[in-house]
Amino acid sequence: MKEFLQDPVFNIVSQILFQQQTQAYVIGGFVRDIFLHRDNKDIDIVTLGNGIDLAEQTAHAISPKITVSVFKNFGTAMFKYRDCEYEFVGARKESYSEDSRKPHVEAGTLIDDQNRRDFTINALAISLHPHTYGELLDPFNGIQDIANKIIKTPLNPDITFSDDPLRMMRAVRFASQLGFTIEQETYKALQRNKSRLQIVSKERIIDEFNKIMATTKPSVGIILLEETGLLYEFFPEFTALKGVEFMNGSGHKDNFYHTLEVLDAISEQTNNIWLRWAALLHDIAKPRTKKFVEGIGWTFHGHEFIGAKMIPDIFKKLKLPLNEKMKYVQKLVLLHLRPIALIDSQSTDSAVRRLLFDAGNDIDDLMTLCHADITSKNEQKVKTLHKNFENVMVKLKEVEEKDALRNWQPPISGELIIETFAIKPSPQVGIIKDAIREAILDGIIENSYESAYAFMLEQGKLLGLKANIK
Ligand code: CTP
Repeated sequence: MKEFLQDPVFNIVSQILFQQQTQAYVIGGFVRDIFLHRDNKDIDIVTLGNGIDLAEQTAHAISPKITVSVFKNFGTAMFKYRDCEYEFVGARKESYSEDSRKPHVEAGTLIDDQNRRDFTINALAISLHPHTYGELLDPFNGIQDIANKIIKTPLNPDITFSDDPLRMMRAVRFASQLGFTIEQETYKALQRNKSRLQIVSKERIIDEFNKIMATTKPSVGIILLEETGLLYEFFPEFTALKGVEFMNGSGHKDNFYHTLEVLDAISEQTNNIWLRWAALLHDIAKPRTKKFVEGIGWTFHGHEFIGAKMIPDIFKKLKLPLNEKMKYVQKLVLLHLRPIALIDSQSTDSAVRRLLFDAGNDIDDLMTLCHADITSKNEQKVKTLHKNFENVMVKLKEVEEKDALRNWQPPISGELIIETFAIKPSPQVGIIKDAIREAILDGIIENSYESAYAFMLEQGKLLGLKANIK
């Protein structure tokens, strides 16, 4: 708080407020985070005067070089100073209609503005006027809720959530991010209002969901989303993993909880959100591929292939990026069973080489995923599998060092084949190139230019081509 009071920007705002005889307050997430001792670089200032004017005057007083971005339609303006973003807005009173997120907005008092905020902990305000500088305005006992670790809406939760249903995602996000509990009435309102999530854009939902994915233990938030019914509203493919079926007394794992175990385990190893997504989606096709086979039990044959095929649709639907991140997730889902298959002592160097070739630079992430995927209630089983998995890692390293396949580039180019046999670009070039690659992966020849060159000559001969060696 001490640091806060000395902030030069707040001091300038304070002087302007004195001159103009108006009021302004720092409000929302920044104030909450002072009391939570969290760093926050987004500073919201709400004024009883004109937000855009106050932003412009403040920026000008700091330095005429600062550019202010003005959003006239919203009545807001912001500027960056040092590494913080300061956003200014006039205090508002908002009312919403049933079928839209677009509110009807009019000027209001500070309490009107606090009333329209999502949670008690986010409705805290600190005065910037010199007469009351640093005074906390906490009409809904937000400080007490911070101390008791409670997420609670300032008004009747049905109203707060109906005004902006994204707040239901935010409730779960704050609960999981901060380790807070959702107060009972607020929680019940999540269940009651879950279907209102349908009017919120997928981009905003996924933004909150990704914040849950980025927490230290993402299962906490995802289980809350599932239990309140919110998860089903935007991601039914994932809730389909839930449940256990029995046949002739034999059941399978609950793939929902298994996936969450894998996700939590991987989150201990990595902050890479896309590797976490790969963990979340690795078994996504299990419900579609589930079969009970007499004498064998439950099978999920081909779930890695079907799962990989499902990824583009899921990414599209959830408005996740349809770029190399998606391809990365798809690749990991497709390959997630391969390292485990290598545990079999019969597995050959050739199988290891093929995995290195197929995974390329993502081999380490694939191994991290696979390691996290080893879950069982039987601790002894997990121990044994982990030990065998270590052996696979050793083998992988040996083959990698020997054959340098991680970033494999064909040692013989198509141009060289064309030149050597004096042929036109044709399918024969591809046939020879593929044969060289297969021979290297099978260990028939070494991964070197010399071996590949000799092999190319042999292959050409088999195709009836004459080498044109200078
Ligand atoms: N707010 C709200 N309803 C929303 C979004 C935001 O009432 N759907 C209010 C809250 O008072 C919130 C403030 O606007 O504190 C700023 O919102 P935002 O910057 O999105 O989030 P923060 O609360 O600051 O949290 P974070 O920085 O972790 O996203």
